[in-house]
Amino acid sequence: MIRSRIAGIGMYVPEQVVTNQDLTQYMDTSDEWIQERTGIKERRFAHRTQETTTTMGVEAAKMAIARAGITAQDIDFIVFATLSPDYYFPGCGVLVQRSLRMKEIGALDVRNQCSGFIYALSVADQFIRGGMYKNVLVIGSEKHSFGLDFSTRGRNVSVIFGDGAGAVVLQPTQEAGVGILSTHLHSDGESAEILAMYNPGTHANHWLEQPLAAFDTAEVGEMFMSHAMIDNAQNFPFMDGPAVFKKAVVKFPEVIMEALDVNGYKPSDLKMLIPHQANLRIAQFVQQKLGLSDDQVYNNIQKYGNTTAASVPLALCEAWQEGRVKPGDLVCLAAFGSGFTWASALLKW
Ligand code: ACO
Repeated sequence: MIRSRIAGIGMYVPEQVVTNQDLTQYMDTSDEWIQERTGIKERRFAHRTQETTTTMGVEAAKMAIARAGITAQDIDFIVFATLSPDYYFPGCGVLVQRSLRMKEIGALDVRNQCSGFIYALSVADQFIRGGMYKNVLVIGSEKHSFGLDFSTRGRNVSVIFGDGAGAVVLQPTQEAGVGILSTHLHSDGESAEILAMYNPGTHANHWLEQPLAAFDTAEVGEMFMSHAMIDNAQNFPFMDGPAVFKKAVVKFPEVIMEALDVNGYKPSDLKMLIPHQANLRIAQFVQQKLGLSDDQVYNNIQKYGNTTAASVPLALCEAWQEGRVKPGDLVCLAAFGSGFTWASALLKW
């Protein structure tokens, strides 16, 4: 039986550290409020002009490729997860292909926000299991700092997010019990608008009381991107934090248990749970609900904030670098986020 295994893993975080105290220069917030509600102490912000979501992804990819013992020209397929792409289109995958001078391989972008990396991993896993590809590069990268409202108006969202990237190379293995055992993907679009960035978009505010009356090209252009939108901060992410919290603490344990049940394991069998670094309070709630010890859950949100699609590979990479994930260990990756979407992957390292 062919399974895919992580043959190489890499990460990249920008140099610039931004502490909670630093944020108080721009908005009415405090280190105490942020730490108490989220566990975050600091995050990294990319260089304003020299770093992008793609360049950070490329750095993480180079490390993953080198650790897999291959070259960029050996990669057969790219899956790139992000909610903060360099361009509205084309996606970041093709920019990675160009930057690393790869062959004319397929490049796919995944738009599943916080669950993006696990969705991307599951796509790569299927291509490997099906025998189509031998070396698939999966990247999660975000440059949030470029699209957040740093005034007091946006403080409930902007204190949470940070920049960074993580990447893995997946390869086939026939070794018994090794590699990705299963992946589990879910969505419920009922609450799509409670954690979302509405603009620019083609929705034309159709859910408002007075949507556009008729087709008028000038007006439609205005609806896509307008001065009023910017004045009203509608070009920034919106989040109903408490509603997200309530759903996350139900769906995280559910999708982790699904992965364990399908493979005949229990929470106590887990060597490491790598939860999407949404909020330390969410991770602690999940830990408690599953009866896991501190040693069984990896958190690095304290240093990096919530890096959305980058958070799972960033945490997995650091856990591996610290020797907390070793060959034979049972590891669960899990995420929940905008959409809502949620997902898990169970693997034997
Ligand atoms: N600094 C100081 N005060 C703040 C800040 C801030 N950065 N942000 C909000 N406040 C204030 C609010 O204005 C409000 O004041 P009021 O009572 O005078 O109106 C008060 O703090 C409480 O606001 P809430 O939004 O109710 O704060 P809550 O206790 O729910 O904490 C938080 C907010 C941390 C976002 C929380 O809801 C949460 O963790 N939600 C989960 C969402 C999450 O983790 N999202 C991450 C992205 S999605 C994902 O990755 C899954």
